[in-house]
Amino acid sequence: MKPRQPVSHAKPSARRTDAAERGDAPGALGAFPSVRLRRARSTPWSRRLVAEHRLGVDDLIWPLFVIEGSDKRVPIASMPGVERLSIDNIVASAEQAMQLGIPAIALFPNTEPRLRTEDAREAFNPENLVCRATRAVKAAGLDIGIVLDVALDPYTSHGHDGLIRGSEIANDETLEALVRQSLVQAEAGADILAPSDMMDGRVGAIRSALEDNGYANTLIMAYAAKYASAFYGPFRDAVGSSVTLASAQGQRDKRTYQMDPANSDEALREVALDLAEGADLIMVKPGMAYLDIVRRVAETFRVPTFGYQVSGEYAMLQAAANAGWLDGDAVMMESLLAFKRAGAAGILTYYAPRAAALLREKR
Ligand code: PBG
Repeated sequence: MKPRQPVSHAKPSARRTDAAERGDAPGALGAFPSVRLRRARSTPWSRRLVAEHRLGVDDLIWPLFVIEGSDKRVPIASMPGVERLSIDNIVASAEQAMQLGIPAIALFPNTEPRLRTEDAREAFNPENLVCRATRAVKAAGLDIGIVLDVALDPYTSHGHDGLIRGSEIANDETLEALVRQSLVQAEAGADILAPSDMMDGRVGAIRSALEDNGYANTLIMAYAAKYASAFYGPFRDAVGSSVTLASAQGQRDKRTYQMDPANSDEALREVALDLAEGADLIMVKPGMAYLDIVRRVAETFRVPTFGYQVSGEYAMLQAAANAGWLDGDAVMMESLLAFKRAGAAGILTYYAPRAAALLREKR
């Protein structure tokens, strides 16, 4: 008896694949000569057409540093190109932001050293720098959102975000101070309060105080997942808290309240709590090294999630750009787009005006 011929049940196309896998297919690309991802990349118009994510001016929030005086611009050594501005110049920057189409600015005070105290009372002085700056921008009739940080670090003699009792950052006593701070800021006209202090329970405390005092429409953007990061160094120079924090008795870092960079699940818990307590918007900070967190938060909660490209990230890119080692504009735009790709609704960035100007040119 003749041995049976082996019968192939494979479809002709599959047989072609086998042939290709053996390396004897005619096309240079092997099994799937028709799959060329480069086709859609080949022209500017086709790249635009297939782009999955886009950076727009509407995505930007511009952080600004406020100082006393008038007609003042004081450079910040560790943030080349960024200056502390007196209130008149803050108003001018707000006007510039509006002309560029930037939807919101964030104001941070460099409080005079004599006003920094153990009890941070300047934080709830209705005439403090950020409150006056906010009123000035509103008085100029500018239709732009104003974000104010809620935290005590620009006002404490020790540079911590909370009040110190004994050797501890006292959570619950700090909440009372944060509530008072929030109310003077809302009264001054702040549109968005951004608690950045990382005390437990602060969003709930602030939200109910706002409700009780006629500020039900004030938004809260919670720095929900804020990490104890060395990337904040230049910001602390800008607001003057590097010096105060270095002089603090005992603890000189913020690891007992800001998050451990080792953690990611914990960020989801922080966000869940802040949302339950009444946060409208969520922020993750720092940005570039934490885009995995932006992604997880945005996907898990489906709420507007903002990334903060912090001072150290700006300093890093800008230093390399100024040295001629990187193309500054290119890395700026690429880094900002990365936030969008991660799922961010928007980005706080010191590059906001430069990015907005470039986006405008492109159109
Ligand atoms: C204050 C605050 C910090 C930043 C924003 N709000 C610094 C800190 O927590 O020490 C950092 C922003 C930046 O680095 O650009 N609580």
